[in-house]
Amino acid sequence: MRNRVEVMHGVNFDVLERRDASVYGGITLTGLELKIGHFARELALEASFHQTNHEGEFCEGLHRAAERADGLIVNAGAWSHYSYAIRDALEVAGLPAVEVHLSAVSERDDFRRSSVIRDLCFGCVEGKGVDGYREALELLKGRFRE
Ligand code: DQA
Repeated sequence: MRNRVEVMHGVNFDVLERRDASVYGGITLTGLELKIGHFARELALEASFHQTNHEGEFCEGLHRAAERADGLIVNAGAWSHYSYAIRDALEVAGLPAVEVHLSAVSERDDFRRSSVIRDLCFGCVEGKGVDGYREALELLKGRFRE
């Protein structure tokens, strides 16, 4: 049975609590991961976490993702908008993936409206804050049942 989800956070998520609280809620990465872990347990899923500020390291995490996970939640932060390297690595990962953004990227600056990973993901949840990760976990759970 597939139930392992890797939650991958990209650049600047280590300082999430120092970013604009009106956009990101003032939560720490640890606090966010605790909440996601709780959502996962409620859904009988197993969550693991990965965060780095280094693009190559994020790519390498994606290269190896299938060794430890059945599906991915990817919030690559600003990289989502321009990193073709991460896009290519996500393709290599070959796992069902949901793109998540805490904020409503489609309603913010123009450069945030596009995502170079979106079409590789079977779902995208944006602008729902922490609860968006629950929705992403539910989407993956549905995919695992197929
Ligand atoms: C973000 C949105 C991105 O545009 C931004 O660069 C981030 C966070 C979000 O979760 O809302 O770092 O991915």
